[in-house]
Amino acid sequence: MKIALASDHAGYALKTGVAEYLRGRGLDFTDFGCGSGEKVDYVDYGATAAQAVVSGECDRAILVCGTGLGMAIVAGKFKGLRPTPCACEYAAEVSRSHNDSNCLTLGGRTHTLELALRMVRIWLDTPFEGGRHGLRVQKIRDIEDRNFK
Ligand code: RB5
Repeated sequence: MKIALASDHAGYALKTGVAEYLRGRGLDFTDFGCGSGEKVDYVDYGATAAQAVVSGECDRAILVCGTGLGMAIVAGKFKGLRPTPCACEYAAEVSRSHNDSNCLTLGGRTHTLELALRMVRIWLDTPFEGGRHGLRVQKIRDIEDRNFK
């Protein structure tokens, strides 16, 4: 599994911690920026990472801004992305088991690194349950097919 990682300035420090965690687990990832705490627009970095998932270059994305909300809004504009801004371990777990999340969004101003890394671990390791949840995710895909060109 290859991860697309991105942040804006408000998520930069947390993203650095996530990158260290991924490296420590030997997971493949590309960091699409930003590269410092200098002010940038989350939209640009989130879009680049989301596009890498759409193109198949990466399998999933972890996006970090101040709250995780702006990044989730951006990623949701890309067909096939199911971004889930998570605020607790339970949400991280069911984002995978029920929603088949392929994009975890985190907040550098709202999550401690410790909580963020616990959620990242759960999100990486929890499989999608399929079954009735598969039928629901298929309904989401059907909506995408109707609404995306
Ligand atoms: C940047 O100040 C902030 O607006 C951004 O990181 C994010 O929280 C937007 O959703």
